[in-house]
Amino acid sequence: MRSHYCGQVEESLVDAEVTVCGWVHRRRDHGGVIFIDLRDREGLLQVVFDPDRAEIFAEAERVRPEYVLKITGRVRRRPEGTVNPEMPSGAVEVLGLSLEVLARAETPPFHPEDENVGEDVRLRHRTIDLRRGDMQRNLRLRHRAVAALRRYLDAEGFIEAETPILTRATPEGARDYLVPSRTHAGRFFALPQSPQLFKQLLMMGGLDRYYQIARCFRDEDLRADRQPEFTQLDVEASFVTQDDIMRIMEGMIRQLFRETLDVELGDMPHMSWAEAMRRFGSDKPDLRNPLELVDVADLVADCDFKVFAGPANDPGGRVAALRVPGGGTLSRGQIDAYTKFVGQYGARGLAWIKVNDAAAGRDGLQSPITKNLSDAALEGIVARTAAADGDVIFFGADRFGVVCDAIGALRQKVAADLDMIASGWRALWVIDWPMFEWDYKDKCWFASNHPFTAPQGGDPAAVKNDPAGCLSQGYDMVLNGVEIGGGSIRIHDRAMQEAVLDIIGIDAQAAEEKFGFLLEALRYGAPPHGGIAFGIDRLIMLMVGAGSIRDVIAFPKTQTAHCPLTDAPGRVEPTALRELSIKSLAPAAPAPNTAPTEAS
Ligand code: AMO
Ligand code: AMP
Repeated sequence: MRSHYCGQVEESLVDAEVTVCGWVHRRRDHGGVIFIDLRDREGLLQVVFDPDRAEIFAEAERVRPEYVLKITGRVRRRPEGTVNPEMPSGAVEVLGLSLEVLARAETPPFHPEDENVGEDVRLRHRTIDLRRGDMQRNLRLRHRAVAALRRYLDAEGFIEAETPILTRATPEGARDYLVPSRTHAGRFFALPQSPQLFKQLLMMGGLDRYYQIARCFRDEDLRADRQPEFTQLDVEASFVTQDDIMRIMEGMIRQLFRETLDVELGDMPHMSWAEAMRRFGSDKPDLRNPLELVDVADLVADCDFKVFAGPANDPGGRVAALRVPGGGTLSRGQIDAYTKFVGQYGARGLAWIKVNDAAAGRDGLQSPITKNLSDAALEGIVARTAAADGDVIFFGADRFGVVCDAIGALRQKVAADLDMIASGWRALWVIDWPMFEWDYKDKCWFASNHPFTAPQGGDPAAVKNDPAGCLSQGYDMVLNGVEIGGGSIRIHDRAMQEAVLDIIGIDAQAAEEKFGFLLEALRYGAPPHGGIAFGIDRLIMLMVGAGSIRDVIAFPKTQTAHCPLTDAPGRVEPTALRELSIKSLAPAAPAPNTAPTEAS
């Protein structure tokens, strides 16, 4: 239908006749001449219609924004002074010789160039929204990235295989999406939270190296970097060590950045989970942020201030300080706002000390808590945090996890607010994860990663003896403070698998019921194996600099897991439910995009 894309008509085509197709981006009437900016996937092209061709001029006068046109015309240089260096076709224009309207358009709910359109409206009219330049760029980068990943993995001998979508629950820690079975009344499929168990079975089946661009489904609380369905690059390999997987995957991510962004990623340090928590209060630290946490429990263990002394003397507690250079200028209002902020992470307060004159000792410090601390403690804190005049020091004192969450999040927030986060890319591997964590609420152990992750050391009895001290062979890749991928070496020994399930309270019978098929496969010769999964959406979000993964997914869902475009989830006919042997308890439930009424 066309000879060229609009955005690819450039100077070498001057005097040539071209046929282009696309949408009317803009139409302007200038002193008897009509300009149409025609838009397609590759960009904009300016087409000029002169009044001396009366018939097509009249036709051009009638077109409106978002009409779909086919135009044939002659390429010519733009007059001096009207060249637009911003666009590839900016040095030329096309003199329109014929114009065909392929489709008319009603006035769209917004123009693809409008900046201030609410996300709900954007998602409701996603076809218009996808016409935006940045959505087009995002989806194209996504395509190029996935193509680069496939090339790399193919060259490394990985075989792409598909795994079922209608399956059984896979334990990644979220709630399952369930699909009722018609042919097995009362039974349900679960949509996979990841292909975890199947990729392990593929290794036991001898595939040796597998990958898949896999859709995963998790019914969890959504955030800017979480969707109910998302895409993983899922990878597994046999006869490998942790270092083998990390090396191959690091090579892949480096090549991805080189090929799609022309970026050479720097050093990718390996950092233990314990070090990451200690220095950054996070298991996904943003290394572009220069701030670090400093432990001060020993300095305040003897003070009268219960807020500090309590956690300082509790083996499960932590007292950490965060020095913010130049933070002395923060107002009381700002500090109050930060206190509220850490409250979201469970912190019961946010103690602080402003250092006005470090040389003056206690008198040079301004703070609501100095009266509670000895001179030695204050001196020790200032020295250990290396605080200087004009700085502020924040404190968190609580259970280890609460302090890490709260002060770790504060570290990132304050640094962002004060513009302290460096530009560029900083990646790292976080390794040596705890195998188990204690659930304070339910008073039980749970697996920090999924329960197929292998512990360090191969003795099931030793693992059972000391769950708290047991580290795993797990690893996460973190980029600019975002967990882009995580994986582990797996258990390939039945006794160890049973020991781990036992610690987290899954007894033999429950294990048999939930993953009997995996335990059985472990009996017939399982190779040592391990793997990883990268969150494609998160990775692309970072690469294009988007604020939300919704901007890199063609048809995403809202924060309430609703699709404004199709209004899914939808209602179903009572007959359909009957066929599925299901009775709804919520017959009068409101549609998900409307507010509940009194009657419901
Ligand atoms: P994990 O649960 O860590 O591991 O997931 C791997 C990666 O997937 C991305 N991710 C998400 N992205 C968008 N929305 C979500 N709701 C979401 N949840 C996770 C993250 C994460 O790093 N089976 C294991 C992998 C393995 O052990 O090989 C797994 O799924 O970027
Ligand atoms: P209080 O004695 O409770 O009024 O607290 C004195 C100061 O300590 C205030 O600045 C509180 O915000 C702060 N604070 C209270 N609890 C904690 C905590 N768990 N961690 C850090 N600071 C706290």
